[in-house]
Amino acid sequence: MIVRKVLVVFTHPALEKSRVNRALIERAAAIDGVTFHDLYELYPEMDIDVKAEQEMLREHDVILFQYPFFLFSVPALLKEWMDLVLVHGWAFGRNGNALKGKWVCHVITTGGSKASYSKEGYNRFTMRELLAPFEQTASLCGMHYLPPYVIHGTNVMTKEGIEEHAKHYQAMLRLLADQAFDPDGLGGMDNLIDQFRKG
Ligand SMILES: Cc1cc2nc3c(=O)[nH]c(=O)nc-3n(C[C@H](O)[C@H](O)[C@H](O)COP(=O)(O)O)c2cc1C
Repeated sequence: MIVRKVLVVFTHPALEKSRVNRALIERAAAIDGVTFHDLYELYPEMDIDVKAEQEMLREHDVILFQYPFFLFSVPALLKEWMDLVLVHGWAFGRNGNALKGKWVCHVITTGGSKASYSKEGYNRFTMRELLAPFEQTASLCGMHYLPPYVIHGTNVMTKEGIEEHAKHYQAMLRLLADQAFDPDGLGGMDNLIDQFRKG
């Protein structure tokens, strides 16, 4: 029985060239209880329908932001979407409690390896550190912030590796949509993917 409604807010400016995200979304879109929402398909000119987006958020319990990492952040359309949709008086501030109690998770693909995203690595910071503005935005909105679900090393990934990731992602989405799964205990993890790849 599906009891948690999951929304995947997907942003990829060049989906026709995508290998990894494309494989992930093909499986995600087929899961009961999961709504797939492609921002570049809907708003190629960035003309975001704020009211419709807010309504969509209200109707879901878990919000996933899925995107390729671009210059250590979200693609431009997703940042624009956040700036317009997550506004004072609706998402935060006095009377701004529309998102309170919902769960949020960033699902990210990176060209860089896992080792590069560390103090000693060439990217110098961990993913959680680089995502601090989004963790704080979630906190401001009274949302529960799940650890990011990060797929590293996409540029050198084989077809088999991509397929394996797509299966894990599908399993993650099923779990999130399942009332029996309690995300409360996951807060301290670095990468949510570790929860799904063990064993
Ligand atoms: C404009 C641009 C910026 C990028 N910036 C980063 C980055 O900051 N860190 C990183 O690890 N990879 C970066 N990449 C690599 C992408 O994250 C990688 O190609 C993508 O995750 C692959 O997913 P896909 O197969 O779905 O396109 C960048 C790629 C592009 C085109």
